[in-house]
Amino acid sequence: MYRNALLLFSLNPLSRFLVTRTGLMKRFVKRFVAGESLDEAMEAAKDLNARGCHVTLDLLGESVKDLEQASRATKEYVEMLDRIAAEKADSNISIKLSALGLDVSRDEAKRNLLKVLAAAERHRIFVRIDMEDSSYTQRTLDQFREVFPQHHDVGVVVQAYLFRTEKDVEQLIKEKARVRLCKGAYREPPEISFARKSDTDRNYEKLMERLLTGGNYPGIATHDENLVKAALEFVKENKIPKDRFEFQMLYGIREDIQKKLAKQGFNVRVYVPYGGEWYAYFMRRLAEHPANLKFFVFQTIRR
Ligand code: FDA
Repeated sequence: MYRNALLLFSLNPLSRFLVTRTGLMKRFVKRFVAGESLDEAMEAAKDLNARGCHVTLDLLGESVKDLEQASRATKEYVEMLDRIAAEKADSNISIKLSALGLDVSRDEAKRNLLKVLAAAERHRIFVRIDMEDSSYTQRTLDQFREVFPQHHDVGVVVQAYLFRTEKDVEQLIKEKARVRLCKGAYREPPEISFARKSDTDRNYEKLMERLLTGGNYPGIATHDENLVKAALEFVKENKIPKDRFEFQMLYGIREDIQKKLAKQGFNVRVYVPYGGEWYAYFMRRLAEHPANLKFFVFQTIRR
């Protein structure tokens, strides 16, 4: 219930107004978001690189409602790629198709995606297409498949909480696509998704094993200690080399595990979000972890 309520708030304009006007950026939001500017994100990326972690930069913003906004986001993604290349940061980028205008025009979103991929290819930087809520799943996979034959440095994300994902994983393995596996961060109906967290976790482990044996450099994106442990045991038992996959975690979450894995020589990639449009991302992080809300309220009262 807690999770559903916060995910509902993540879509609510009044709640957005109240949270973004409380001036908490510097206090609590800063824990999950590297800053509002690309400069701040680059600084965070370099710090993480110095600690032995790879990075994926993410410009926050989703569900744009007009093509001008989509075009602006496209330019910002290209600017991000130019900057990563110019500063030789060890980073790729993550993008959302709804930020490129998928809700407004499918064709325009594809044109924008191709512009981003062309810039990425120039700099030899990988682009990950994030997965949004289930109303985007098929459209995202379709657009990915349309560009993948020409642009191999692009990958996609699947969510273990969806029933359909097992089939998607099998298909993506056949296509040799690079896949990030996450649990899923949105509010989904029980007809299409596991209602119980334990079922999602079980499905995650099964899909993770499938991707570790058959996938193309999968991204194991979780902070769940049990799943990280299961991954470590599985790769050991199956003699899967460390350079065949990577762990992925979010900026500011379980830095202890991030450091430990990097020290052990595993590839660890940290997802570094930045930008002014942090509200929806921030609310999803609150929804995932009840302790965050207590801390957030406590910080607000103390001010
Ligand atoms: P789980 O929620 O079970 O948490 C396990 C432990 O991690 C918790 O006990 C706690 O210690 C810690 N933790 C998790 N979330 C926390 C939080 N918010 N604050 C503090 N501690 C927390 N989703 C999606 O739908 N589409 C996408 O494209 C992506 N992309 C993505 C990239 C990367 C790199 C990661 C790591 C995650 C995503 N996600 C995502 C989000 C993902 O679906 C999921 O919501 C979160 O990762 C939380 O799930 P865990 O696997 O961490 O497990």
